[in-house]
Amino acid sequence: MASKPTIQVIGSLNIDFVTLTPRVPGPGETLTATSMTVHAGGKGSNQAVACGKAAFTSTTEQDVNVYMIGAVGNGDPYYASLLKPTLETGGVSTKYVEEIEGVQTGTATIIVDTGSNGQNRILFVPGANQEVTDVQKILDIETTEGVPDVVVMQGEIPRSTVLGLLKAFNSTSQKTAVVFNPAPVFPDGLPLESLKGMAVLVVNETECLLLFKVIEELKGTSSVPREEDLTEYHLDRLTKVIHDRTNISIVVVTLGARGVYFSASEGSTRGLVPAEKVEKVVDTTAAGDTFVGYLATALARHLSTKNKVEDFDIQKAVKRANQASAKCVQRSGAMESIPFGYE
Ligand code: ADP
Ligand code: NA
Repeated sequence: MASKPTIQVIGSLNIDFVTLTPRVPGPGETLTATSMTVHAGGKGSNQAVACGKAAFTSTTEQDVNVYMIGAVGNGDPYYASLLKPTLETGGVSTKYVEEIEGVQTGTATIIVDTGSNGQNRILFVPGANQEVTDVQKILDIETTEGVPDVVVMQGEIPRSTVLGLLKAFNSTSQKTAVVFNPAPVFPDGLPLESLKGMAVLVVNETECLLLFKVIEELKGTSSVPREEDLTEYHLDRLTKVIHDRTNISIVVVTLGARGVYFSASEGSTRGLVPAEKVEKVVDTTAAGDTFVGYLATALARHLSTKNKVEDFDIQKAVKRANQASAKCVQRSGAMESIPFGYE
């Protein structure tokens, strides 16, 4: 029997403390708020759970192995009682989540101002996520688990770690396909050079507009769009420049309720895939992470049989990922709102 394809998600693990309040207190003020709930979070673990859940072909069968790689504070009761079980129920192995002495698990304190359209204010403490610095130790996981088919990364672990891993995994001798979602964008950005040889780059509208500002051929031109004016013309132009400069195989721009623009460097497959029609949007939290996870799982399945990113049916994968994200936006919450593949 052929072994299952493998995905490593290398990224952040957070505990989210969400407080609902009718308004935000002023300096020195104590205010009675509505509620406080604790949730499993972090872009890394969200995307790992999306990969893991996508891999469930029935309530008991999973056709892709998913590993979360990252760090939390040693002995953290929230990790033990909430984050770890949530990852595992989502089909993710926590074997390579390191528990580090003397540091806290990353946290996000999220203040939801229900009095002003549920506007969020977020305080992020990176904690243990900042300790994910040993690139070689991560690369060595392949000696026990085999070379991963797909590696998924984001921007919530140190920039130097991401650069080191991109360099290793994007090299031509590596069979691993990197799916990179540069969110949040590093304050110092990343050199385009570091994206060379990457399989899939996934950005949202905000990150896409930043790309317009940093790419030499595009910046300073009068055609740098505003978010509301981001048309297929701009996306076509941007993605062509990215392919030329970096030879990334597939570039994907998620456009919220509009859907997704994709562009593959091989052949001429590019264009807009509209989002699924949704009756009522409840909570868009984790929609982007759901999309990335479903796309990564589809790619891992493809690579385990065909072994070439170039032959990947990206349009079909985008459609499937859109369906999953549409389910996510109709449910409240983050990780818990990510659908299973069999749903
Ligand atoms: P992010 O949260 O990273 O900014 P997006 O807002 O672009 O990501 O959403 C990711 C994907 O989720 C979209 O490409 C789409 O497939 C789906 N999605 C988001 N909002 C909606 C919506 N209102 N209706 C249907 N699908 C949606
Ligand atoms: Na949601």
